[in-house]
Amino acid sequence: MTTTAPHPVHIGDNLDVLPHLEGPFDLIYLDPPYNTGGRVVTGYTDRFEDWTGFMAPRLAHLPRLLAEHGIVIASIDDREIHHLRVLLDDVLGAGNHVGTVVWDGSTINSSHLLSVSHDYLVIYAKNHAALKASGTMWRQPRDDAQAMLDAAATAWRTAAGDRAVAQQRFRAWLTPRRSSLPRGLTEYDRIDETGALYRVGDPGAPSVQASRSFRELTHPRTELPCPVPKRGWRMNDASMDRMLETGLIEFGPDHTTQPKLKRMLADNATAVPRSVFRQEREGARHLAGIDGVGEFPFPKDLAVLARWFDTVTGPDARILDPFLGSGTSIEVAMALNLADGGTRQVTGIALDEGGIVQDVLVPRLRHCERTYGQTVSWSGTSSSSLAGKRPKRGSESAA
Ligand SMILES: C[S@@+](CC[C@H](N)C(=O)[O-])C[C@H]1O[C@@H](n2cnc3c(N)ncnc32)[C@H](O)[C@@H]1O
Repeated sequence: MTTTAPHPVHIGDNLDVLPHLEGPFDLIYLDPPYNTGGRVVTGYTDRFEDWTGFMAPRLAHLPRLLAEHGIVIASIDDREIHHLRVLLDDVLGAGNHVGTVVWDGSTINSSHLLSVSHDYLVIYAKNHAALKASGTMWRQPRDDAQAMLDAAATAWRTAAGDRAVAQQRFRAWLTPRRSSLPRGLTEYDRIDETGALYRVGDPGAPSVQASRSFRELTHPRTELPCPVPKRGWRMNDASMDRMLETGLIEFGPDHTTQPKLKRMLADNATAVPRSVFRQEREGARHLAGIDGVGEFPFPKDLAVLARWFDTVTGPDARILDPFLGSGTSIEVAMALNLADGGTRQVTGIALDEGGIVQDVLVPRLRHCERTYGQTVSWSGTSSSSLAGKRPKRGSESAA
C-alpha cells in the first residue's frame, strides 16, 4: 500500500486560506463556479454580479504558490473563458499560456440554437520558455494503440501461446480496421514469442548520422556472420549490446538475411496530447454511486482529471485545488497513487455552502480513505462537521 502524507483539506473561503498556504505546488487545478447564473438547488451559489472581481484577488496568489516548473489547469466554459484568459494573462503572463483544451463530453446545455457539449481546460505554465528549454515532453496514451494492444493480448491468450495462430488471429482483427487506423500504427502487426506486438524497422544508419557500428552479428542458429548494412548500423556498439540483450534485434531464418530492429508498440503507444478530446461525462454518476453522499451539481470526471494530472505532473506531485467542491481531485490523486505507487498530495480548499462539506465532501472522502488506503487531514471553521454535527456556515462570499 502507498504511504502518502495526508491530503490537507481546509474548510473556508479560499480568499482567507490562500495567503496562509506555502508552495511550491507542481500543479494548481482551478475549477471555479462557472457563473451559470443561478443557485443550484442543493449545492453552491453560481451567480456573480462581478465574476472577474471575485476571481482576481484569488488568482493573484498563483505566482507565489507555483513551482518554477509548475502548471495551472483551469476548468471553465464559454460564459467566462474570455475573462479568465485575461485574468490569467495578467497574473502569469500571456506568453505562459500553453494552450486551451476542449473536452467534448455529453450535452450539458441544450437550446434551440446550439447544443453545448464542451468544457475548456485552460493551461498555463509558470515559465513556459523554461519548460520548453528543459526538454519536457507531455505524453498521453493513444486510444487506437491501446485497442491494438488489447486485440493482440486477446489473440495471444486465445491462441494459448502459439505464436503463428496468435498472429493470424490478430491480423484477422486488424484487416477490416486498417483503413481507419493511421498507417504508422498498422505496421505493428507482428506478435513475438512473448505475445508482444511489434513492427520491424530498417537497421541501416542514415547518411547524416555521426556515430554508427559496423559490428558483424552472428546468426544464432547457423553461427555465421549476417550482412552488415552498407552505411553501418543505426546504433553504436553500446546500444547494439543492449538491444541484443533485450531481444530487440530480429534475425532472419538464416545468416543470409540482414537482421532487423524490433520496435515494440507498447513503447510507442503514447502521443503528444491533442487540444480536443472526447470523454463521456461520468462525474455525477460516479458520485451518486457512493453510499451516503448527497447531491452535488457537476462534479468533475475522474478520468478527465486523471488524464491531465498524469500528463503534466509526476507521481510525487504537490497539487493545489482551491475550489475543491465534492473532492474529485483528491480521489483522483488517491487512485493514481494506488495504481502506480506515487505520493501525490492534494491540498484542497472547500467553501462550506449549501451543506456540501457535511453532505458531500466528508462522506466522499471518508469513502475514499477506505477505498484507496490514504488519509485526509481537516482544518478550518467547519471541522465540527466531522463529528457529525451540522457544519458552521462559512461566509457566502461573493459566490
Ligand atoms: C465547479 S465547483 C467545483 C467542483 C469540483 N471540482 C468537483 O469535482 O467536485 C466550484 C466549487 O467552488 C466552491 N467555491 C465557491 N466559492 C469558493 C470560495 N470562495 N472558496 C472555496 N471554494 C469556493 C463552490 O462551493 C463549489 O463547490
